[in-house]
Amino acid sequence: MSIFKRKKAKEQPESAALPQHVALIMDGNGRWAKKRGLPRSAGHRAGAENFKKIVRYASARGIRYLSVYAFSTENWNRPQEEVSTLISLFIQYLDEALRDFVGENIRVRFMGETDRFPQDLQDLIARVEETSHDRTGMTLNVCLNYGGRCELKDAMQKIARRVQSGELVPEQITEQTISDSLYCPDEPDPDLIVRPSGELRLSNFLLWQSAYSELVFMDVLWPDFGPEQFDEAIAEYQKRSRRFGAIR
Ligand code: IPE
Ligand code: IPE
Ligand code: MG
Repeated sequence: MSIFKRKKAKEQPESAALPQHVALIMDGNGRWAKKRGLPRSAGHRAGAENFKKIVRYASARGIRYLSVYAFSTENWNRPQEEVSTLISLFIQYLDEALRDFVGENIRVRFMGETDRFPQDLQDLIARVEETSHDRTGMTLNVCLNYGGRCELKDAMQKIARRVQSGELVPEQITEQTISDSLYCPDEPDPDLIVRPSGELRLSNFLLWQSAYSELVFMDVLWPDFGPEQFDEAIAEYQKRSRRFGAIR
């Protein structure tokens, strides 16, 4: 018999509850296409279709906050043609989201320096945020031209301006001041970050907020990451014991 006794059901770890905030790194579109002998753009199209499916599923499962990493500050380093394809897909899918997510009562927000995108995409982003603002269901954060370091740089600039204006002295800067200066300060940190595609890194995603997130890496490629894989990630999360540095 194992020396490690099994926990009784009533001693389940606290994280057995559904995570309030799930973050997804939507990675592996290119490899999905390559495996099928298709151009990378076909992988991005399949990935975008899957995005809609998983957003709906997460909302139906009762997730309160879902953050999706769609385009990083480093993704500009890809060939111009691929970046253009991605931008066209964002326009198409956000336009659809304007209509589609109404029934699901989903609020959509954007995280990232979106002013670097073409004006038509920026206008759409503003419309999507505005029309969904008062919805009371799941909040979906779409991370577009997002980088964790960029977010921290922006936060530091905000804080530096407050110091410069005399509103704050450096000694008054706390961890909370930094949290309050991020893109979505009113949202809880992600409980669970899931990365499909087999890569074992965060790639500049939610660097500050991930301090105590549970990380789940999966071998499946994003276009194949369905409700079953979503459930698998949640089940894995529910097995973890979150201690936050304390003893349990
Ligand atoms: C994720 O898929 C989409 C973006 C990063 C925009 P990738 O395009 O990174 O796919 P792989 O990792 O090359 O397979
Ligand atoms: C992370 O994927 C960014 C998004 C999924 C949007 P990448 O494919 O850009 O990350 P790396 O290059 O493998 O680290
Ligand atoms: Mg990738």
